[in-house]
Amino acid sequence: MSLRVAILISGGGSNMVSLVDSMTGDHPARPVLVLSNNTDAGGLAKAAARGIKTSVVDHRPYKGDRKAFETELNATLDEVAPDIICHAGFMRILTEQYLDHWQGKMINIHPSLLPKYPGLNTHARALQAGDTMAGCTVHEVTAELDAGPMLGQAQVPVMTDDTPETLATRVLKAEHQLYPAVLRRFAVHEYAPIHMNIV
Ligand code: GAR
Repeated sequence: MSLRVAILISGGGSNMVSLVDSMTGDHPARPVLVLSNNTDAGGLAKAAARGIKTSVVDHRPYKGDRKAFETELNATLDEVAPDIICHAGFMRILTEQYLDHWQGKMINIHPSLLPKYPGLNTHARALQAGDTMAGCTVHEVTAELDAGPMLGQAQVPVMTDDTPETLATRVLKAEHQLYPAVLRRFAVHEYAPIHMNIV
């Protein structure tokens, strides 16, 4: 029996695609749901085109009531009984109601070399700091934002003429290598962090 993976997205879903496309052959897991909080997320059509069930739990009707949003989120996920939940550009702050329910099953990708630059605008912050290396991190999701145990990191060089956009493009390519590699290990309980250097 394959492990069941749900993937949470808010946008274009390029990381979701890299995860989905990796789960073939002897991979221990298979995607069972792509869920978005955003009805307009481009990734929903990409998932549907790959024959994967999609759901939307729109956060907007729940404005100011995270508990009600997460009740719906948990119920939608419960329907597919995921063993692993991959946050892949899922741009919502989550509370205990969700985090306690899925404890130990959630992983996330973040576009910086954590612990540097949790939160938003990571690439602009790396450039402003004069960093010569940037990258991405996959980590377990815990109550503290972008701070759970690290499962893997991929580094890329920062170029002297980089803008936040050009750096984001380079880091995103690294994300597409790192996240599937970490998921495959996480599925078989290999938690020691992996490190990639992508030139
Ligand atoms: C990715 O760069 C991901 O690391 C970032 O959003 C982008 C989603 O792109 N996530 C975060 O910033 C979470 N804090 P995608 O939809 O093409 O995968």
